[in-house]
Amino acid sequence: MPRMSVPSFKERKHSGDKLSVLTAYDYPSARAMDEAGVDALLVGDSCAMVLMGHETTLTITLDEMIHHTRMVSRGAENALVIGDMPFMSYQVSTEDAVRNAGRMVTEGGAHCIKLEGPPEILGGTITAIQNASIPVMGHLGLTPQSVNVLGGYKVQGRDDESRAQLMESAKGLDALGVFAIVLECIPPDLAAEITAAVSCPTIGIGAGAATDGQVLVMHDILGWGFTKFTKTFVDVKSEMETAFSHYVSEVQSGTFPTKEHEFS
Ligand code: KIV
Repeated sequence: MPRMSVPSFKERKHSGDKLSVLTAYDYPSARAMDEAGVDALLVGDSCAMVLMGHETTLTITLDEMIHHTRMVSRGAENALVIGDMPFMSYQVSTEDAVRNAGRMVTEGGAHCIKLEGPPEILGGTITAIQNASIPVMGHLGLTPQSVNVLGGYKVQGRDDESRAQLMESAKGLDALGVFAIVLECIPPDLAAEITAAVSCPTIGIGAGAATDGQVLVMHDILGWGFTKFTKTFVDVKSEMETAFSHYVSEVQSGTFPTKEHEFS
């Protein structure tokens, strides 16, 4: 199977084949997703909350994101690897943003990066990163890095004004040439309208079925996360807890290890 490239990812909008994206933060998970045929692995800054136990995504650093991106890119033979730019790695200046996006590629091995926010604020930054030959994915709707402005993790685009604003932002990002846009936690009918209005693929999370693809947090689909709207595909957390408690009781009872677990 040839590796998923940014042009082939974009092309899928027209072929009608939905795109599957999952978050990945480490090598073994990336390998398993790659082998299962997931199209793209997003090294999301959700890593801060899901894997590292932080309260928000605001406290993960660029160095930590690069560290996780390195693990994922080593495990991804076929999938596109998208490195998420953490809070304050692209907001200070354009020069800083290009340098930091470059580190995600040169040190992390990402093929492209994602950043959160509207084109009115990020237009110059997006163009500069793309001019450095780094493809950019946009992210609109519930943008967790703005949690302190939004006042919590709430559905966005519920009233006419914010719907119109989101539509304008999506068109603006599309005109800038982003290769895809994540639409997070917006009403499904708005996600459908945006999907029809832009030329790049839309990737939804909590945005209904009409987007060109879906992204989910790996831990959520394994019953191991905190998100309510998602589906547990396999309850891996329960399986792990079963394994852990069997291990404890077998060690305590002396039924593990046996001769077959010894080196001869
Ligand atoms: O950080 C992340 O995992 C994300 C996805 C939820 C889209 O941005």
